[in-house]
Amino acid sequence: MARIELNSLRKEFGRSVVAVRDLELTIEDGEFLVMVGPSGCGKTTTLRMIAGFEDPTAGDILMNGTVVNDLEPSERDLGMVFQSHALFPHKTVAQNIEFGPRMQKIAADERRRRVREVAEMVRITHLLDKMPGQCSGGESQRVALARTLINNPDTFLLDEPLSSLDAKLRREMRAEIDRLHQELGKTFVYVTHDQEEAMTLADRIVVMRGGEVEQVGTPLEIYSDPVSYFVADFFGSPSMNLIPGTLRRDGDRAVFEGQRISLTLPEGFAGLEPGDVTVGIRPEHLSVGGSGELTQKIHLVEPLGKDTLLYFDYGGEQDLIAVVNGVSAHRTNTEVAIGFTPDHLFLFDADGRRIR
Ligand SMILES: Nc1ncnc2c1ncn2[C@@H]1O[C@H](COP(=O)(O)OP(=O)(O)OP(=O)(O)O)[C@@H](O)[C@H]1O
Ligand SMILES: [Mg+2]
Repeated sequence: MARIELNSLRKEFGRSVVAVRDLELTIEDGEFLVMVGPSGCGKTTTLRMIAGFEDPTAGDILMNGTVVNDLEPSERDLGMVFQSHALFPHKTVAQNIEFGPRMQKIAADERRRRVREVAEMVRITHLLDKMPGQCSGGESQRVALARTLINNPDTFLLDEPLSSLDAKLRREMRAEIDRLHQELGKTFVYVTHDQEEAMTLADRIVVMRGGEVEQVGTPLEIYSDPVSYFVADFFGSPSMNLIPGTLRRDGDRAVFEGQRISLTLPEGFAGLEPGDVTVGIRPEHLSVGGSGELTQKIHLVEPLGKDTLLYFDYGGEQDLIAVVNGVSAHRTNTEVAIGFTPDHLFLFDADGRRIR
C-alpha cells in the first residue's frame, strides 16, 4: 500500500525560481490522482521530488507515515513513466522490459515469466522480439509501461506519458491506463496538461498554478464548482464563456453589463458589491431559441455531428458559444433568445476569485 503526504513541500532553483511553493497534499492509497496545470506550474518538479530525483528545498515527503526525504529513488518503491520513454535502442523489447529484474539479479526463467506476464497486461506479447525502432509510438509507450510494471511498485508516477501520441492512440492508451489502475489497485500520480485526460482518469484532480495548488477535487467538483476564473477556464471543451463587464445595482437587483450584453441577475445575486466582474457560463448551460434573458444574432453555426456549436458576437474579444444537441436548425445571421439557469451562472471578481 502507498499513502503519500506532501507537507509544505518547496523547491527553489537558484535564488529566483520557486518551482513548487509549500505544497500541501495527501494522496490516498490506491487513488488515481491527476496533477494538471499550464506549462511551468511545477508538475514535473513535484513528481521528481516524490520520486527522489530532486531534493526538496523545504518540507517533507511521507510514504505510509514515514519521512522519505533522505531515501534514494530505488528505496522508495515507485515506478516512473516519462513522456520520452527512452528505451534502449539496441536491446529487444523483451530485454528492455526485463531491465529492472536483471539489475536485481533475478533468475532468467523467472524473468522470462514476468516479462510475459506484464507483456500480456499491456498487450504487447507479439512485440517481444522486436527492436524499439520497429515499434510505433503507442507500442513504445506500452513497452515503457511494461518496463515499470515488471518491478511491481506500490506507486506509479506518470509524467505526461501520452503527450507524444496522436489523438486516437491517446484515447486508447488512456483507457488502458485506466484499466491497469483498476486491475492493480495501486496508487497512481499522473501529470498532464490535458484537461480531458484529467477529467476522464482522475479520482481527484489537483489543479496547479505557479507552483501552488489552486484547487483539489473530484472531476465533477472541479467542473461544476471551480474556485476561480483560472480553474473555470481550464476545464471544459468548448471552454466556459467568460464575459468581462461591470456589476451595478438597480433597485434591489444586480445588473451585469458587458459589451452588448445586459443582464438583470437573479435575486440570489442581489447584495453583491458593484464593480468589475466576469460572468461565466458553460456553453451547454445556455439554452437557445426559447424565451431567454438575452437576444443575440448567430454569427456562426458549427455542426460537430453529435451536437452543434452556435457562436454569438456580443462585442467581446471572444464569441459567446452555445452548444445544442444534434444537428441544429438555427441559421447564421438570425436573432435568437438565449436563456440560462441561475444555478449555472458563475461570477468572478477582478482578481479572478469566484464570488458566486
Ligand atoms: N533544473 C531546473 N533548473 C532551473 N529551473 C527549473 C529546473 N527545472 C524546472 N525549473 C523551473 O521550475 C518551474 C517548474 O517547472 P516544471 O518542469 O516542474 O513545470 P511543469 O509544470 O512540469 O511544466 P510542463 O507542463 O512544461 O512540463 C519552471 O519555471 C521551470 O523553468
Ligand atoms: Mg513537466
